[in-house]
Amino acid sequence: MLEAEDESGQRLGIEELKDQLLLLLFAGHETLTSALASFCLLLAQHPEVKAKARCEQAQFQTAELSLESLKQMTYLDSVLKEVLRLIAPVGGGFRKVAKTCELGEYTLPEGWTVLYSINLTHLDSEIFPNPERFEPERFRDRSPEPFSYLPCGGGVRECLGKEFARLEMKLFAAQLLRQYDWELLPNQDLELKTIPTPRPKDGLKVRIWELE
Ligand code: HEM
Repeated sequence: MLEAEDESGQRLGIEELKDQLLLLLFAGHETLTSALASFCLLLAQHPEVKAKARCEQAQFQTAELSLESLKQMTYLDSVLKEVLRLIAPVGGGFRKVAKTCELGEYTLPEGWTVLYSINLTHLDSEIFPNPERFEPERFRDRSPEPFSYLPCGGGVRECLGKEFARLEMKLFAAQLLRQYDWELLPNQDLELKTIPTPRPKDGLKVRIWELE
C-alpha cells in the first residue's frame, strides 16, 4: 500500500494509509468475532438447532474438512445465514447520492449522505415472517430477493472479504460442532451492545468441553 500508485503516479497519504489499515483490522477481525460469538450464543439458546447441526456433521465426521465437504453442509449454511440475519455484525452503511434520484416517494438530493440499514431490513416482517425468531429453516429452500438480505452490504462497495468470511465461519463452526459442546453460564447480561459490533454486555460466558 505504501508503494501503490494510481494512473497519474499519486500515492496514498499517511492519514489515508492509517485509515485503510484501521478499516482492514475492523472489517476483517471485529465483524467475524462478533458473528462467531453470536453463533455460539444462538446455538446455546437453541439446543434443537445445535443438535441438528451436529447431526449433519456426523455425516462428514470421517472426512477431512475440505471445500467439497463444506459445500455439502447445507444445514450449517442456513444456520450461519440466520445468525448473520438476526445479529448482523454491521448494522448499516453510508452512501453518497451522486445524482438526485427518487426512491419510492422520496427525493434524494445530490450530495446527501444516506444511511442504509441492514438491521431494519433483516427485521422487516414482510421479508422475514416472525423476524425476531431464530429459524435457520427460513433459508432452507429459498434465497431472499436481492438487497433484502445483506449482512455484507451490497453494490460495488459490498464487503471485500465476504467469501473469505463465509469460509472462516463455516470452518470454525464445523470444528466446534464436531469436537466440543458448550452451554451458557448463569448470571450474565446477554443483552447486546452494538458498538463497534454486536456482542453481549458481559462478553459471552460459556462452559465448553471436549466431546468424547
Ligand atoms: C461475517 C463477517 C463480515 C461481515 C458481516 C462483513 C460486512 C461488511 C459490510 C456490511 C461492509 C460494508 C459494505 C457496503 O458498504 O456495502 C463491509 C466492507 C468491507 N469488508 Fe467486510 N464483513 C465481514 C468480514 C470481512 C473480512 C473477513 C474482511 C477481510 C479479510 C472484510 C473486509 C472488508 C473490506 C475491505 C470492506 C470495505 C470494502 C469497500 O469499501 O469497498 N470483511 N463488510
